[in-house]
Amino acid sequence: MKTNIAILGAGNVGTGLAYHLGRQGHTVNMYCIEPDVLRQINKKHCNKKYLRNVRLPENVRAQAGLDACLKDARVAIMAVPSHAVLQVAKEAKPFLRKDATMACISKGLDPQTLEPIVISVKKNLPKANQKRTCMIGGPAIATELSHDTPTAFVTASTDKNARKYIADLLRHGHIKSAESQDLLGVGLGAALKNPYAISLGFCDGLHYPTNSKALVITMAVSEMAGIMLRAGADPKTAPSLAGLGDLLVTGLSPHGHNRTYGQRLVKAKSNDPAKLNLTTVEGIRASELGLKLAKRLRARTPLLASIHKGIHSNRDFHKPFENYLKKLKLDLI
Ligand SMILES: NC(=O)c1ccc[n+]([C@@H]2O[C@H](COP(=O)([O-])OP(=O)(O)OC[C@H]3O[C@@H](n4cnc5c(N)ncnc54)[C@H](O)[C@@H]3O)[C@@H](O)[C@H]2O)c1
Repeated sequence: MKTNIAILGAGNVGTGLAYHLGRQGHTVNMYCIEPDVLRQINKKHCNKKYLRNVRLPENVRAQAGLDACLKDARVAIMAVPSHAVLQVAKEAKPFLRKDATMACISKGLDPQTLEPIVISVKKNLPKANQKRTCMIGGPAIATELSHDTPTAFVTASTDKNARKYIADLLRHGHIKSAESQDLLGVGLGAALKNPYAISLGFCDGLHYPTNSKALVITMAVSEMAGIMLRAGADPKTAPSLAGLGDLLVTGLSPHGHNRTYGQRLVKAKSNDPAKLNLTTVEGIRASELGLKLAKRLRARTPLLASIHKGIHSNRDFHKPFENYLKKLKLDLI
C-alpha cells in the first residue's frame, strides 16, 4: 500500500532513503534546511551536494518547514546527524500525526543519558507515538543504496506491528529487511560501531593486512556485546547485522567517514576533521560517550579506550591503538 513518508534531513542517508522509498511509489517529503539543496531537489530532482548520480522520482519533494513535511505523514524517518536529533524531534512533535510511526536511522548516544539517541527520541515523543518508535540499523551505507545490489536493513522496535510495518516498507528489490525486538541493542550497535570503525581506519593508515583487521573486528564485537549485556540489551545483537554487519560496512567501505578519519589521522598533525577534509565524524563523540557508558556499566573496553585516548591526543593519534594491540593477550576463548 502506498503511503506518505516524511524524511527529516536531506543529507546522504535521507536522500538515499528518499530514492529507495520514492521509487516504490510512496509520497516522500524531505525536511531540508538548505535552500540550495531544496531548490535542486524540487527543480532538478537531484541532490548533488549529498548524493551524486542519483535521480530522484517526481513524488519526492523537499520542504522547508516541518509542518508541511509532516502534514499527512504516516511515517517520519529521523535522518539528521546525531547532535541535531533531539532538537529536530522537539520541533517535529507538534506536527506529528497521532498514528505516525517514528523511525530513527540517526546513530549516536544521548550526551545527557548515554542511552542510544532513539531511546531519547522515543521518551520525548507524544504518548500516542512512543510505543511505535523504531530504530533502523544494519549495514546499509547510503552511497550504495542506489546501486541496486543486495543490502540489508534491520528495524527494531518493542512494538511488533510497528517494526513489521517499517521493515515491510524498506523491503524491496535487492533490499532485504530484518526485524528485531532489541531496540536498545540495535541502538547501541548503531552508535558504537562508529568509534570502532575509526580503529579500522588506523589499520588502513598503518597498512595492517586482513589478519589484523579480523582481530580488531572480533575484539570490537566482543566489547560491544559486553556493553549490550550490561545495559540490559541482547548481547546476540552484537554479532548480528546491526552490530558486526554495520561495523564491517562502516569500517571497511572506502566511503565510511569514520574509517577515513582513522586512516588520515595516522599521518595527520591535527585531529580536527575539517583539517582532514571531512565533515561529520560521529565516532569522535561516540568514543567519548561510549567510554563513559562502559565505565558506568563496568564493562571492559580496552580497545574503545585506546581509540578514545588516541583521537583526543595532541599527536601520534594511532599510538594508543598500536600499544593496545602490542599488549593484547588472548585468553581461552
Ligand atoms: N550516510 C549513511 O550511509 C548513513 C547510513 C545509516 C545511518 N546514517 C546516520 O544518519 C544520520 C545522518 O547521516 P548523513 O550521512 O545523512 O549526514 P549528512 O551530513 O550527509 O546529512 C545531514 C543532513 O541533516 C541536515 N541537518 C543538520 N542539522 C539539521 C537541523 N538542525 N535541522 C534539520 N536538518 C539538519 C543537513 O542539512 C543535512 O541535510 C547520522 O546519524 C548517521 O549516522 C547514515
